[in-house]
Amino acid sequence: MEPIDLDLRLSAPALQLGEPGPDAVQLERLLRSAVRVPDHGKLVPWRMLLVRGDARARLGEALASIHQRNDPQVAPAKIEKNRERFRHAPLVVVVVARIEDEHPKIPAQEQLLSAGCVAYNLLLGAQALGFRAQWLTGWAAYDRDVADLLGLAASERIIGFVHVGSAREAVPERVRPDLADVVSDWR
Ligand SMILES: Cc1cc2nc3c(=O)[nH]c(=O)nc-3n(C[C@H](O)[C@H](O)[C@H](O)COP(=O)(O)O)c2cc1C
Repeated sequence: MEPIDLDLRLSAPALQLGEPGPDAVQLERLLRSAVRVPDHGKLVPWRMLLVRGDARARLGEALASIHQRNDPQVAPAKIEKNRERFRHAPLVVVVVARIEDEHPKIPAQEQLLSAGCVAYNLLLGAQALGFRAQWLTGWAAYDRDVADLLGLAASERIIGFVHVGSAREAVPERVRPDLADVVSDWR
């Protein structure tokens, strides 16, 4: 795995991702690097679900059904979007936070942030391996029926669907914040 130049870190729209995805060896490296995150109290407040192969289309179908059931008036184009969502990237990693809300020492916020680092590490790792990725949520990340479909416990929540694959077209850069707007000296 080559270290990536963080100045070049860039997401690729999931719809522009395609084959190839990581092979078995690359996937192992991707996942191993993803779990090397700061974790106050070593709680491991996260886990990952891999969605690949036929499971992607099945997940898209299931999301479409749930969406239709939740909102019978929804426009057919939106339902179709659910169906299509998982057909592009060869690998989707569902990052799940396992938050212990009442932990005596480690605030829930810190556990959630550790899970966020896993998702971000997946972005970095994917790019380091020569792939591209995007972290998406959308309604499905916040829907209890989707959580049940994925087998999440009541204490678990989806923090993102990280789509990983190869970019089929040039990835557009976007404007980044001006440092002067976000950094200041405290005196
Ligand atoms: C928690 C989280 C959820 C996101 N969910 C979406 C989403 O549902 N749809 C979307 O278009 N972008 C979403 N994004 C933004 C993209 O992941 C990505 O940041 C964006 O495409 C810009 O690319 P960049 O990572 O190169 O800045 C999300 C980002 C974060 C951190």
